[in-house]
Amino acid sequence: MKAVILSGGFGTRLRPLTLSQPKAVLPILNKPFCLYPLEWLARHGVRNVTFATGYRSASLAAVLAKEKPRGVSVLLKTENRPLGTGGALRRASVKYGERFFVLNGDILARFNLSEMLGFHLKKKAILTLALVKVPDISRYGSVSLKRDGEIQRFAEKQPGLKRSGLVNAGIYIFEPEALRRIPSLIPCSLERDVFPRLAEKRRGVFGFPIHGYWKDVGTIASYREAHEDLLRGSSGRLLIGKGTRIGQKVKLEGMVSIGRRCRIGDGARIQDSIILDDVRIGKEARVTESILSYRCRVGDRSKLEAGTVLGEGSRISEFSQC
Ligand code: GTP
Repeated sequence: MKAVILSGGFGTRLRPLTLSQPKAVLPILNKPFCLYPLEWLARHGVRNVTFATGYRSASLAAVLAKEKPRGVSVLLKTENRPLGTGGALRRASVKYGERFFVLNGDILARFNLSEMLGFHLKKKAILTLALVKVPDISRYGSVSLKRDGEIQRFAEKQPGLKRSGLVNAGIYIFEPEALRRIPSLIPCSLERDVFPRLAEKRRGVFGFPIHGYWKDVGTIASYREAHEDLLRGSSGRLLIGKGTRIGQKVKLEGMVSIGRRCRIGDGARIQDSIILDDVRIGKEARVTESILSYRCRVGDRSKLEAGTVLGEGSRISEFSQC
């Protein structure tokens, strides 16, 4: 089967990390984000993936040219102007002529995609949306289902209404018939324009509640959580990239991910932080619950307090406090 990964957004909620690169290239545990959904799709037999890109697509192209999984052919379709999730999908998949998967490019998921396909086929759906149960739907807008799993209604975001419920997980199976309902070359949103109209007017739009790991890595908080989740699932709470040198009497505490070719000065203390490639941290500096993008420089004896996020190439002079 084929798939489209929607990766053209500006990623404004992840600024300053996305000022110099798209979300799809931002690393999680030193691996570009786009490789996680690609590998997951490949494990479920997807062999052709189109990335619908826009913002800073050249850096995504460069990563995929070097690092894509074996056996998967990858194509980039780049928009000159943002077409929204709907317009971008229509443009990227218009020649498919067969059923295909669609993923928001900022979703980290590990559930059985083949089961979702089985459900879609059994229901003879024209469109199936993966749904995830969250404790607070007010940030998302919710989805209500009929008994047989058909989608009854999409409700808008209701800030203030704090309750659990099913929300769109950003993973879909489209039949060509559903794709044809998206206007071509006009900017539009799948979530706001296409899905509510389809569910209202046509039969065959189903929701598949998923069980398994799911995270929308679209905010600084969830970017940090994704590191925690993946580190917890691996060998421990610490990752040190190749070529990184750690000085004498350095303390690395809690969840720490350090990129490649970094230098950590003697006596520095790093706690619950994410550090990307080529960062220099000076002697006796303190970095607490912070995120440092590529090539940052932190001077000797500086203190970065909880919540600091430094964009690419930031310079913090010695004894500074942020
Ligand atoms: P924010 O600016 O932080 O909201 O992030 P975003 O621009 O990525 O938007 P959002 O998280 O709502 O987008 C969900 C997915 O759709 C992401 O993977 C985006 O990259 C992608 N996306 C959003 N808008 C477009 C678009 O106009 N074109 C393409 N190709 N993809 C898009």
